[in-house]
Amino acid sequence: MTLLKIARMGHPVLRRKAEAVADPAAPEIQQLAAAMVATMADADGAGLAGPQIYQSKRIIVFHAPGERSDTDDGLATAPLTVLINPEIEILSDRMEEDWEGCLSIPGLRGKVPRHTHIRYAGMGPDGKPIEREASGFHARVVQHEVDHLDGVLYLDRMRDFDTLTFESEWVHHMKPTGKGDA
Ligand code: NI
Repeated sequence: MTLLKIARMGHPVLRRKAEAVADPAAPEIQQLAAAMVATMADADGAGLAGPQIYQSKRIIVFHAPGERSDTDDGLATAPLTVLINPEIEILSDRMEEDWEGCLSIPGLRGKVPRHTHIRYAGMGPDGKPIEREASGFHARVVQHEVDHLDGVLYLDRMRDFDTLTFESEWVHHMKPTGKGDA
């Protein structure tokens, strides 16, 4: 199992707009996807994007298991997914604030507003198209990861920094809900 080093805030790769993947089914992309999945699991994360492992490519991996979700309309959970060249369509203007962390910004949490209902599309590493609707934590993690492809970090999305909290304090004071960094 290959584990990749995770880029931390301050490295320019995290602020660059990532390049589209020309051939999503290429063997090297499948290998990269497998290494990203292993790296995310090892870090106990909910999502990981190409720039976070120093690859300025439009590829993300994520999962939204049931215990990470607040609602159960069937759209709030997702299996482990590799998504290449993802596109997001906003389906609701409604935004909701909830806690986020980021594997590239270790040790911090903050409340981030995100659209509650989206549709996303892209390619799987098998070259087959993926198209899904998402709500709740599922919609949140996809928006967080696609932001990484455009050089955007969750701190940029916060309305103010009142909720910005060290994870060690958050565990004591903020009723942790088990959501992983992404
Ligand atoms: Ni992140």
